[in-house]
Amino acid sequence: MTTTTNPETISVILRRRSVRNYSDKPVDDEVILQLLRAAMSAPAADRQFPWKFIVIRDKEMLHYLASGLPSAEMLSEAAAAIVVCAAPQDAFAGRVEYAVMACSCASENILLAAEALGLGAVWTAIYPNPESIEFVRYELGMPASIIPFNIIPIGYPICEAPVTDRYDPDIIHWEEW
Ligand SMILES: Cc1cc2nc3c(=O)[nH]c(=O)nc-3n(C[C@H](O)[C@H](O)[C@H](O)COP(=O)(O)O)c2cc1C
Repeated sequence: MTTTTNPETISVILRRRSVRNYSDKPVDDEVILQLLRAAMSAPAADRQFPWKFIVIRDKEMLHYLASGLPSAEMLSEAAAAIVVCAAPQDAFAGRVEYAVMACSCASENILLAAEALGLGAVWTAIYPNPESIEFVRYELGMPASIIPFNIIPIGYPICEAPVTDRYDPDIIHWEEW
């Protein structure tokens, strides 16, 4: 048994799973802001934080985005969604790779915070698909310098996702490959 000073944090990490079905229960703005605070606590190279966020609550827009993206149909059921956006010009060395890494960290923080708050969420892909990037950028009126990175639908889960332990000792190397 591993010792930790905050077992609940580890439990949230191990419990988190993609949730794709949501109830009708609304999600308060304060809760969305907690998710965004978690996102902004993510690490980024050289403390250069190359992310922006768009909160979408409008049902019509959620439906429309669901219809235009592959594998994002659950957006139409969600109470809200967060579009994580990459701003490469704000990233370390102005490089898109650093923006992508930072936005990935921010996204995982949103997913973990959602689990901790009893919400369901899932990463739905935009980047690196050029058609999806163009579609979302156009629909949400985003400047060309900003890359819509993913959309995370948020809602209260209808049921609990089954969690299986994915720990695999065979993919761990000690000291050398
Ligand atoms: C880069 C990336 C893209 C993903 N794109 C989608 C997507 O478009 N639609 C979707 O339903 N899930 C998407 N997912 C979620 C994965 O399917 C999910 O994380 C994976 O099946 C593992 O399941 P878990 O999240 O429940 O652990 C994506 C995850 C990542 C990291």
